Amino acid sequence: MKKQHYLLFLLAMLVCPLLVHAQSQQEPTIIPRPSEMKMGEGSFTLPQKLTLFVEKGCGAEVKAMAKDFAQLLKRTTDIKKAKVTSCSKSAHIIFGMNEKMEAEAYDLHISSSQIFIRAAQPAGFFYALQTLKQMMPAEIMAEKLGQEVKNITIPAVYINDNPRFGWRGFMLDEGRHFFGKEEVKRVLDIMATYKMNRFHWHLTEDQGWRFEVPKYPKLTEVGAWRNSKVLGWAETKPDGQRYGGFYTKKDIQEIVEYAKARYIEIMPEVDIPGHSQAAVASYPQELACDPQNPHEVWLWQGVSSDVINVANPAAVQFAKDVVDELIELFPFGYIHLGGDECPTAKWERNADCQNLLKQLGSTNYRDLQTHFYKQLQEYIAQKPTKDQRQLVFWNEVLHGNTTYLDKGNTTIMAWIGADGAALDAAKRGMNTILSPQIPYYINRKQSSEEGEPRSQGHGHETVKAVYNYQPAKGIATDLLPNYKGVQANFWTEWVEESWVVEYLMLPRLAAVAEAGWTPQDLRNYDDFESRVKQHKGLYELRGWSYGKHIWK
Ligand code: ACM
Repeated sequence: MKKQHYLLFLLAMLVCPLLVHAQSQQEPTIIPRPSEMKMGEGSFTLPQKLTLFVEKGCGAEVKAMAKDFAQLLKRTTDIKKAKVTSCSKSAHIIFGMNEKMEAEAYDLHISSSQIFIRAAQPAGFFYALQTLKQMMPAEIMAEKLGQEVKNITIPAVYINDNPRFGWRGFMLDEGRHFFGKEEVKRVLDIMATYKMNRFHWHLTEDQGWRFEVPKYPKLTEVGAWRNSKVLGWAETKPDGQRYGGFYTKKDIQEIVEYAKARYIEIMPEVDIPGHSQAAVASYPQELACDPQNPHEVWLWQGVSSDVINVANPAAVQFAKDVVDELIELFPFGYIHLGGDECPTAKWERNADCQNLLKQLGSTNYRDLQTHFYKQLQEYIAQKPTKDQRQLVFWNEVLHGNTTYLDKGNTTIMAWIGADGAALDAAKRGMNTILSPQIPYYINRKQSSEEGEPRSQGHGHETVKAVYNYQPAKGIATDLLPNYKGVQANFWTEWVEESWVVEYLMLPRLAAVAEAGWTPQDLRNYDDFESRVKQHKGLYELRGWSYGKHIWK
């Protein structure tokens, strides 16, 4: 921080305690609730000629962010001039470096004449701006062009904010239904609104394979298409229409960039060896346990028994090649290889699988699965550092022999019996992410009311039920470092249309975001509900559909 600027800041900090006790005005509506927020006295009205100053130490990325923010204000409000200047003296918004802060932390000090933002990393500055935008009229966050907003006044406040967890995720299943690039971007926008930072992209399923792998062209020629849009279940029958889609390499690069600009990392998931019927249908000779039989991309819901033959060296090679492709497409340090709901019936009838199990000295067919992952983990381990990836699995993997795995380099995503599974993983020295089926599967209905769009299960999860889940409750301090965070999941067996994805996500994703960010002792449902109710305007300006139950 420059000297004169630092002095100004110190002065502001000195005045701050006086402001703190004033408690004179209503808290701004911020989701997730900041970890520390003290109201000051008075407010700051943005002037018609707004100047922003970015200290040198902040770097080019933060400077570009400040410029974008100035442009946004110009395009959405009646502010005539907003620019980044090289002189700190009369600047209204100042971006300063504080290297001591944690990677995603920031502080924001708004007095009656200036706004100071401090962070150590670009992500912290980004979150400070998201907070600032939430304190302004919704048109700004919504990027509604037209300069209709006038007199932007923000209350004086001191915010010192840092997320509780480093992993604040959302998973979208595009294996069952394919929504396409534009919808994924909308999902990323929703996540960014609430400072979520991990998009888990479930890209393969029994019912569809959704990204190009040049070595295996049939994955997208065959595996990305099926003969029904609706997935059959009980009375619901496949409808016979040709349906599908997939992402090209270029599409994925575009989405990775879009996410990066919002400080969201993308973790791809290729669910193997179960939930793999679309891959098996594409390459039955290499992947099927029974290549002599016909295999097709699945038209039904549930758990298919048509799993990959993990005892076939061609299947192991296939998985290695797919991992190579994921490493090339996705720069993030984590790859999810699924591992849930993998029936072993076909392995039990397959001579190669029987022999492999014998060689392993085991009678538990689940061990074939962990042994398959071991080969992939070892394959990744011998790559150069930049290509190293940590593997993530669903918690059923704990039922196999996990001594095969490099535990410190393995993350268990806990969904079924989540709290117990997460504890089990942590005790075994693995990392874990909490995504409890109930209540974090936000593809389930929001209420029991008639007229809700079709979605999974007979039960429902209200906003309150989602909010009130307490992550890592009662976990001993020595195990807490293994708890990396929380994640909401969205499965799409019953969801064919983009608007239903958004309808079910909102406002419940905001509740999960707050669990991931805000200290538990500051979380309170009634307080959250009153804040999230105020986001209706934002949802409407952005054209995001949302469940209206809490507004009734
Ligand atoms: C899952 O819900 N099958 C992870």
